[in-house]
Formats: sequence, structure tokens, C-alpha cells
Amino acid sequence: MPKYKVAWLPGDGVGIDVMDAVKIVLDKLKLDAEYIHGDIGWEFWKSEANPLPDRTVDLLNNTDCALFGAITSLPKQEAEAALIPELQGKGKVYASPIVRLRQEFNLRTNLRPCKAYPGNPLNYKEGIDIVVFRENTEDLYSGVEFHPFPDEVRETIKKHNPKIARFDHHPADEVAVSLRINTKTGCTNIITDAFEYAKKFNRKSVTVVEKPNVIRETSGLMVRTAREVAKKYPGIELWETNIDAMCMWLVKNPMDYSVLVTSNMFGDIVSDLCAQLVGGLGFACSGNIGDKLAVFEPTHGSAPKYAGQNKVNPIAMFLSAKMMLDWLGEADMGERLEKAIAEVIAEGKVRTYDMGGSNTSLEVAEAVAAKV
Ligand code: IPM
Ligand code: MG
Repeated sequence: MPKYKVAWLPGDGVGIDVMDAVKIVLDKLKLDAEYIHGDIGWEFWKSEANPLPDRTVDLLNNTDCALFGAITSLPKQEAEAALIPELQGKGKVYASPIVRLRQEFNLRTNLRPCKAYPGNPLNYKEGIDIVVFRENTEDLYSGVEFHPFPDEVRETIKKHNPKIARFDHHPADEVAVSLRINTKTGCTNIITDAFEYAKKFNRKSVTVVEKPNVIRETSGLMVRTAREVAKKYPGIELWETNIDAMCMWLVKNPMDYSVLVTSNMFGDIVSDLCAQLVGGLGFACSGNIGDKLAVFEPTHGSAPKYAGQNKVNPIAMFLSAKMMLDWLGEADMGERLEKAIAEVIAEGKVRTYDMGGSNTSLEVAEAVAAKV
């Protein structure tokens, strides 16, 4: 019996292309795994009104981890219109399957390394090496939203916080409310993960990225918790930066930063910024990590216009596979893979279009496989 069971979730569009590419590399590495296909994505929304069918949830309950390609999603009305006629008009609402996976499996840590591999022509500056820890289940992603805004909710809030009276003259259907819900446990977990990482990999600082001067309660909770947790790690400095200033500093002095830790929404934003500093979506890898399950994915979308053309850069997928190997405890294999990727980038002979080349995803895969 193979040592690991890996759920194989290509999803939509170029997700399928980059998964084909990473398979070449994993086979060459001879990872002792069984890869089990799982249905996920737009096709299953259209035909079943569920982009994450129960059978896929069951599969994930019985695997060690998952590799995930990409997903197509469209706004509410377009999604409804795409359903097969039998399913239309039944009030089905599209929910992002990756957000559901993160919440239903409590994949509470979103780890996003952003490293400038030497020789990558897309690097903003050489030497950038930032790791973003994004809380992955709470915050503005909690899904507790109202539109129209029910009167009884409004009145209840007024009893606790009169500031809401400022919106009284706006009728219910002209008010939309999304709750930012952060918990002490959520803050403690993500900040502890960031500090543990800094300790393990000898990083000198952890920067908590929030906005406590304005968003006093939720951002305040993160920063207060960071101060508490930091006390347990005397060798590592805690820096505090506001999200807006952080974006400026990252563009100005990206080399100053090492480990960033932040809440879900700010993490979504700042991790795209960091990814662009090291080559953009073709290099943006991630791991959604829980206690029992982890799902590794490139953070790019399904890019429908490139679907099936084997055109997009598969390196983000390869780096996500490297994270998976590390998580499985196959650190040697992970290191071999990363070295092979770094060599292919440095040599510059095999490159996809985003890097100025004309090679296919599969040719990049062959080049990396030849070096592992
Ligand atoms: C990401 C993506 C997702 C997110 C989308 C696809 C729901 O942008 O992983 O960063 O917002 O978290
Ligand atoms: Mg994002």
C-alpha cells in the first residue's frame, strides 16, 4: 500500500494544466503516494448546484492532504444563470469551494512563501524572502452578512453601540453589512504559527499587519495577542505595522521584511502584493493547513482564456507541491524539488510566456523533472 493518500483536485481551466504538469514532477520524485481524483469546480456547480460535492468532502476526510488546481467563480446572478434549467429558480447560491474547504476542515493557517529565486526576470528585487501567515477561517470571510439589513438586528446593535444610529435614515434594502469576526483562538493560533516558523527557520522578526488605530476591536485583538505571544519568543522581534503603510513599505524596502502575520482579508491582499514582488501569479504558492488536513494550491485563478493550452507557468503549482512534501515530512524530497525549480529558473532556458519564454507548462515540468 502506498505511504500517502493524496486527493487530486484539478478544478477548472488552467488548474487542470498545472496539475498535469506537477504530476510529471511528482512521478519523477517517486513520492510513494496514491493520487485520488476529486470532483470540484464550476462543472459541478452547473450540473449539481454544488461546486464541492459531498463525495469530495468524504474523500478529503480519508486522505492525508490535497493538491488543488484552480476554480472558476462568477458573481451571484451569473452563477445562477449557468445552472442547468432544472436547478434554476430554486434559490441556489454559489459559495466558493476553497473558502468552504478552509472553514469546514478548519484549515486555519494559510501559509504563503514569496521568495525571489535568483535569475527570475520578473523579480522586483533580488533577495526578497517573505513568508505571509494569513488567518484562514475568520474575519471578513466569516460569511455573516446581511442585505437587506434586518430591523431587529439594527435595533439590537443600537442597544450595544449607538454609533449605528448614524445609518438610521438608510432603508434596510440600501444597507449591506458584513461582520468582521475574529477570535482570540484564531489570533493566537496564527500568531503562534508565525513565531514557531520564525524560530525554526531562524528569522529575526515577525511583523503583525493590522489597523488597530481605526478597527480597534478586531485588529486590536490581533495586535494585543501578538504582544502576548511574542513574550514567549525572546530572540525574535515583533514589529507592528498598519496594513496601508505595510503596502508602501513592501514596495519601498521589501528586503526589510521576513515573516508577516495578519488576518484573513488583509492577508488576502498583502499576499498578492508580496507574490508580485517575486514574479506574480506564476510563483504564488500556498498551503491551507489544519491539524488533520492540508490543501496545497497555487493562488492563481483558472484563467479560462488559457484553459487547455498548457501555457501558464506551473511553478506556483510546483512550489505548492514542495510545501506539500514538507508537510508530509518528506523534507529531503521537498528540498530536491525546490533546488530543481531554482536551477531551471536560474538557467533561464525553459520559460513560459510570463517569463518572456515560449515553453509550455509541460516543458517546464520536464525540465524540472530532469533535475530532481
Ligand atoms: C486566495 C483567493 C481566494 C480568497 C478566492 C479565490 C476566494 O483570492 O486564495 O487568495 O479570497 O481567499
Ligand atoms: Mg487572493
